[in-house]
Amino acid sequence: MAAAPALNPAVQDFVRAPFRKMLIDGKWVASASGKTFETVNPATGGALASVAEGDAEDVERAVRAARRAFDDGPWSRMSPGDRVKILLRTADLIEQNALELAQLETLDNGKSINESLNVDIPSAAGTFRYYAGWVDKSYGQTIPSDPSFFNFTLREPVGVCGQIIPWNFPLLMAAWKLGPALACGNTVVLKPAEQTPLTALRLGELLQEAGLPDGVLNIVPGYGPTAGGALVKHPAVDKIAFTGSTEVGKEIHRETAGTLKRVSLELGGKSPNIVFADADVEAAVQGALMGVFFNQGQVCCAGTRLFVEQKMHDEFADVLAKHAHEMPQGHGLDPATKVGPLVSKEQLDRVTDYLAIGKSEGAKAIAGGERNTAAGLADGYFVKPTVFTGVRNDMRIAQEEIFGPVVSVIPFKDESDAVLQGNNTFYGLAAGVWTKDVNKAHRVARAIRAGTLWVNCYNVFGASAPFGGYKQSGYGRELGSYSLDLYTQIKTVWMKLS
Ligand code: NAI
Ligand code: MG
Repeated sequence: MAAAPALNPAVQDFVRAPFRKMLIDGKWVASASGKTFETVNPATGGALASVAEGDAEDVERAVRAARRAFDDGPWSRMSPGDRVKILLRTADLIEQNALELAQLETLDNGKSINESLNVDIPSAAGTFRYYAGWVDKSYGQTIPSDPSFFNFTLREPVGVCGQIIPWNFPLLMAAWKLGPALACGNTVVLKPAEQTPLTALRLGELLQEAGLPDGVLNIVPGYGPTAGGALVKHPAVDKIAFTGSTEVGKEIHRETAGTLKRVSLELGGKSPNIVFADADVEAAVQGALMGVFFNQGQVCCAGTRLFVEQKMHDEFADVLAKHAHEMPQGHGLDPATKVGPLVSKEQLDRVTDYLAIGKSEGAKAIAGGERNTAAGLADGYFVKPTVFTGVRNDMRIAQEEIFGPVVSVIPFKDESDAVLQGNNTFYGLAAGVWTKDVNKAHRVARAIRAGTLWVNCYNVFGASAPFGGYKQSGYGRELGSYSLDLYTQIKTVWMKLS
């Protein structure tokens, strides 16, 4: 493998500081308790940086700052044109610092530098730029009414938003949450995942540099049940936006009943990727590989249930296994790497447990099936790209989210069998279908109960296209114009005319 490129000096400084502080009311501060926690480089298992550990008291301060910035602060009073400028400058600054952000992301999360540099960072910039466009293009209505009244609506921000994000796309998830929230005039307390807080903290600096007023964005790194839990329970928080496990999503749903704050949830998945025998097979193989091994399979919409039409199942599975076996695995900073380490020891244990469960259920790993302990990788959290055959859709490995580089290949008889099995899951985040028959593609796209359907492609995203779940994959749609509904509320005004 090629030598890893030298780290940008700014990245070295960023991780070397005694500890990274949290952002409250425009100031970088230690936690109230003085506690810090360590973030780990998953490629080596070694400590990467120390970060201030937020808890209830820090959340209290952050919410107070966000409340003040919302209720009497400069954000809501700023002209839309000036808010546009700040969001556009943020997009520019992300691009100007792309290499630094990409290296930081790869160090903290493990993902390959090619993915950080070509997917995560530009998509984050694009999300801010897209939502900058909505600041002055989202408005209320003038409503026909009895002539003795003037009736209109105002589209107003929701208020203080608590945003809790996961570790699989740390900067991009921050952008998906902050772009629309800030564009709509809200203030925010952001809690990054404890595994990957670094790029969100760096983004906080860039937003300040772009001119965001104090208190509009507060960033409190820390653990889920403490910092996250305090945010969810806080009575002065108007909305929670969460991306993460279905289990925690349900807990947030229950917990927020007490204050009836608004909630949007983007949760897990077990997405079917359906390959018909009349598909462009080479394209389907590439799509199936990318659908499940992209980001080490730590993707909520990963195509983890690969349904292949019975008559070509065996040969398709063999080709897939051959490719999976050959995928270069290594440290994320190595430009040759396609598959990096999993994000944490916890995730490594979780995924290797599922490998054991799959084997005990009778599935056969025709590629991978184990941790990768090759020279240079043994201390990191590497799992070989794994292809299971002999899987039935009711097995645990076909029903539970594994969140690792593991695909279950399952045969189907015909179109109705594919739809039946594809829909047989508690989840409903996404699905893929591969066929040259346009009528079949339309029928299956309508029949699958999922929030996103990809036809002859997989894992395609755009800031303007909504994303979110059916069933237990959550509710609410992020991205596109739909996200504006999550971050605004409608006020009706009746004026009596005389
Ligand atoms: P998680 O749902 O526990 O963590 C996601 C975020 O929620 C983190 O910021 C975490 O600190 C926070 N959190 C955790 N407990 C909380 C609580 N009680 N109140 C408020 N916030 C809380 O996910 P985890 O444990 O990192 O991963 C477990 C599994 O969840 C994964 O194996 C995967 O199956 C799924 N997952 C799904 C994601 C998605 O994109 N939909 C992202 C991350 C994980
Ligand atoms: Mg958890």
